[in-house]
Amino acid sequence: MALIEISNLDKSYTTGKLETKVLIDLEMTANPGEMIMIMGPSGCGKTTLLNLLGGIDKPTDGTITVAGNNLHELSSKELNKFRRTEVGFIFQFYNLIPTLTALENVILGIEAVIQDKKELRERAEKYLKLVGLSDKLDNIPQELSAGEQQRVAIARALAKEPKLILADEPTGNLDEERGENIMELMQKLQKELKMTFLIVSHNSDLKKFVNRTLILRRGKLTPT
Ligand SMILES: Nc1ncnc2c1ncn2[C@@H]1O[C@H](COP(=O)(O)OP(=O)(O)OP(=O)(O)O)[C@@H](O)[C@H]1O
Ligand SMILES: [Mg+2]
Repeated sequence: MALIEISNLDKSYTTGKLETKVLIDLEMTANPGEMIMIMGPSGCGKTTLLNLLGGIDKPTDGTITVAGNNLHELSSKELNKFRRTEVGFIFQFYNLIPTLTALENVILGIEAVIQDKKELRERAEKYLKLVGLSDKLDNIPQELSAGEQQRVAIARALAKEPKLILADEPTGNLDEERGENIMELMQKLQKELKMTFLIVSHNSDLKKFVNRTLILRRGKLTPT
């Protein structure tokens, strides 16, 4: 069974009297364990698409199924649970809690999937170490560089070990070597844990890490 199935997806935003059609009759499927890159110009709707897949925003029309969950059929409580347990988000602007340390930010992100306190801490530390931040566990975001904050956000999403990772420019603020390390880490998780990745990026050098690349243009996804 496909992990993601999108059919006839429309998404419009209305501001005042102006309606902007962002996604138009968009179709997409992804299999479990696939790593897919989404490219496209600024404003074409990449973040919008990720938000819809993660249940953060609602379609204007059409259906989205993720891991057997038909998102429009879920109650807001079920949708909340879906977001907290099934999906890992790496946001374009990180969304870290400014008053919490790196370790606490990651722990907060995975509390819905791990109950045991000791296990929770170990899992958070493991992933912060994997992204190269074992010496910054107790720093709050403003004590971290942009790239370090991005890596905390990556650790927070991956540590959940969810079925689906939605990553919005995950390596945008990292140098080339660090970016490639992160892509390799994601590849490893894709293989070992059969996690599915949807990665938005403007960097075509990252194509070599993914199974396929799709372009979002005029509201639709097309293969490259
Ligand atoms: N909440 C909103 N209300 C109104 N318009 C919105 C809203 N969110 C996004 N848009 C519009 O939808 C379009 C797509 O935005 P989106 O953020 O998905 O683009 P993007 O492809 O992620 O761009 P970028 O590469 O710059 O991040 C833009 O024209 C944007 O202005
Ligand atoms: Mg965006």
